[in-house]
Amino acid sequence: MKTFNDFGLSETMIRSISNMGFEEATPIQEQAIPAALEGKDLIGQAHTGTGKTAAFGVPLIEKLDISFPHIQGIVVAPTRELAVQVAEELNKIGQYKGVRTIPIYGGQDITRQIRALQKRPQIIAGTPGRLLDHIRRKTIRLNEIKVVILDEADEMLNMGFIEDIEAILKEIPSERQTMLFSATMPAPIQALARRFMKDPLMISVKSKEVTVPNTEQYYVEVEEKQKFDVLCRMLDIQSPELAIVFGRTKRRVDELYEALNKRGYSAEGIHGDLTQAKRDSVMRQFKQGGVDVLVATDVAARGLDISGVTHVYNFDIPQDPEGYVHRVGRTGRAGKSGLAVTFVAPREFNQLRTIERLTKRKIMRQTIPTIKEAIVGQQRLAVDKLVKAVETEDVSHYQVLAEDLLNEFEPVTILAAALKMMTKEPDQTPVKLTEETSHWSKKRNDSRSGGGQGQGQRGGYRGSSNYRGGGGDTRGGGSSGSRPRRPKY
Ligand SMILES: Nc1ncnc2c1ncn2[C@@H]1O[C@H](COP(=O)(O)OP(=O)(O)OP(=O)(O)O)[C@@H](O)[C@H]1O
Ligand SMILES: [Mg+2]
Repeated sequence: MKTFNDFGLSETMIRSISNMGFEEATPIQEQAIPAALEGKDLIGQAHTGTGKTAAFGVPLIEKLDISFPHIQGIVVAPTRELAVQVAEELNKIGQYKGVRTIPIYGGQDITRQIRALQKRPQIIAGTPGRLLDHIRRKTIRLNEIKVVILDEADEMLNMGFIEDIEAILKEIPSERQTMLFSATMPAPIQALARRFMKDPLMISVKSKEVTVPNTEQYYVEVEEKQKFDVLCRMLDIQSPELAIVFGRTKRRVDELYEALNKRGYSAEGIHGDLTQAKRDSVMRQFKQGGVDVLVATDVAARGLDISGVTHVYNFDIPQDPEGYVHRVGRTGRAGKSGLAVTFVAPREFNQLRTIERLTKRKIMRQTIPTIKEAIVGQQRLAVDKLVKAVETEDVSHYQVLAEDLLNEFEPVTILAAALKMMTKEPDQTPVKLTEETSHWSKKRNDSRSGGGQGQGQRGGYRGSSNYRGGGGDTRGGGSSGSRPRRPKY
């Protein structure tokens, strides 16, 4: 393992990194940082949650000329939340050098962004649609760009985004350095990517599995109609600190989080049809622990780094195996452990097998938990809460009351009653969920691989149109653009 001192970085960079609490470099950082510092084009593939942001952020910022008042680096990301997160991480990395990164994304007031751009940031991290709006308005000029990064590169180069990416790259001088990062890099996308790059170095952190090994993964076979009750039981038994539940469609997400609230869980939903203000507030609440369960479309599947997410539930099976890798990767980040459960309807077993082939990992079957197990889970939680109160809280004000009670009843009876009151017993409040059917891409080429270079055969990337509508989730915030902008996620 290398430390960051081994890369010959500047003193200001070392200070920022140590301020962020990083000691050793992760494997992708160890390989990508020296190559990127040399100016090589590269494709970096490594597990979710292993520090790809810093793997490109450190060399990007290290090489930048602080005295040159132009945008010198651009990071393109598929969702607004990810653009914001990348900008935040780059601002931390650039803190002591004085490098500023601003996020540019749809749904935020464009005049506010124009004002921020006038302050001459050195880096922008943005979503494709809004970046193009600024390019057309000439409020962003890319003629001094030295480094371009496509974060979640396979997603950026698939059907929904490719035209926008091509349009953005056309504005950037060809002597640029281009870097692509993702946890998955299907062979056809790699082939496509090479068109935009100069003799790229492929850095693929070799490992048997594509998903993070420290995340326990299993599936339950469950009929559509049973799914919701099973989810509630699992939440009761596993009592996650923070959980993300992935649903297939926006309607599904809305219905699910409302149904969870009806049953007494603290849940919120996020998808591309919500206003940006709502999306921001949901994300803020979830990050701060104000809600325990985030129900999301795939808008939250890629890149988001939220500490404390202990569980991922695929309420609907992901639409493609790469999607599985990224969804599951929202937990078990930076060496932490996690648990991911996928609900599989009987007719979806082919999808499950395809996921297992890509991830090179057998997903173990679990039986559906019973109501009894859910009750036991909640009772255990009540006991834990009580013990914690005994150990950490000042209960002196309650002692007189307790002694009065003890004069009247048996201690064990009092305690049992208290535990009963504290236990959330399974809630059977009826809820209504519209049935969803799976749209697994029929044309998908199972030889695609998240692994190294050149694996598998060439095949169309992203086969079916009902599976990728377009890049619209990040768009729609602009005034120009000739193509229709369709919502996604
Ligand atoms: N060298 C390091 N030491 C400790 N923590 C690190 C290091 N590098 C990055 N991290 C932290 O690890 C977490 C995950 O990093 P990051 O979001 O960059 O992962 P990623 O590889 O981009 O994942 P994904 O594929 O999901 O986008 C972040 O909280 C980041 O600050
Ligand atoms: Mg990332």
